[in-house]
Amino acid sequence: MSRKELVVAVTGASGALYAGRLLRALLCGGHLVHAVLSRYGRYLLCEELGWQPEKESLLEFLARLYGEDVRAGELREYGVGDLTSALASGSGSTEGMVVVPCSTKTLSGIACGASSNLIERAADVTLKERRPLILVVRETPLNLIQLRNLVAVAEAGAIVLPAMPAFYQQPKTFDDLGDFIAGRICNLLHIPHQLFPSWTGPTDTHAQ
Ligand SMILES: Cc1cc2nc3c(=O)[nH]c(=O)nc-3n(C[C@H](O)[C@H](O)[C@H](O)COP(=O)(O)O)c2cc1C
Repeated sequence: MSRKELVVAVTGASGALYAGRLLRALLCGGHLVHAVLSRYGRYLLCEELGWQPEKESLLEFLARLYGEDVRAGELREYGVGDLTSALASGSGSTEGMVVVPCSTKTLSGIACGASSNLIERAADVTLKERRPLILVVRETPLNLIQLRNLVAVAEAGAIVLPAMPAFYQQPKTFDDLGDFIAGRICNLLHIPHQLFPSWTGPTDTHAQ
């Protein structure tokens, strides 16, 4: 399998688990991940997953959480305020971007093309270069402004993949739920995975 080069942004919506499971899948698969964390994305990685950034790097944390296999891939981290970064230019060689989880604030910035930080700018670049941009938006309920922003990004070419795990695969753990979302993201990026079993039709007669 060829190595993909992807941007993964983590913003301040609940659901750091989804970011963790996607990063685990990409890194264990040997891919190159350019990571950008917003201030509240970092906060939620600490609060919800137990990252201790004063003691460990993001990669060390992922290795502690998920095992040393994450070192099969490469993780490069960028400051969210650094608009001089290569990710701010379309001349780079990244093949797509995922914002996971995506706050409605970052959704709004992408929808109006604000490019006010590296996450919004990298998303803007991804859209203009016609590369896949996947937004794992998490909020409930949604107001009309947020719904309109979802339509705006979809019209601009982004894929809205709400943080809505399914239950038909009979998840046993939170990680199973996270892997369902990580797997759907990998499907869209054409990355083979075994994060959840494919639905192959009913195994009993309940549906009849
Ligand atoms: C504990 C916590 C949970 C939050 N959860 C959400 C959420 O699920 N969805 C959302 O849109 N915003 C959520 N927010 C609000 C965002 O973090 C806030 O709007 C922030 O400005 C987002 O900035 P960012 O997109 O640059 O990370 C949460 C904030 C906190 C402190």
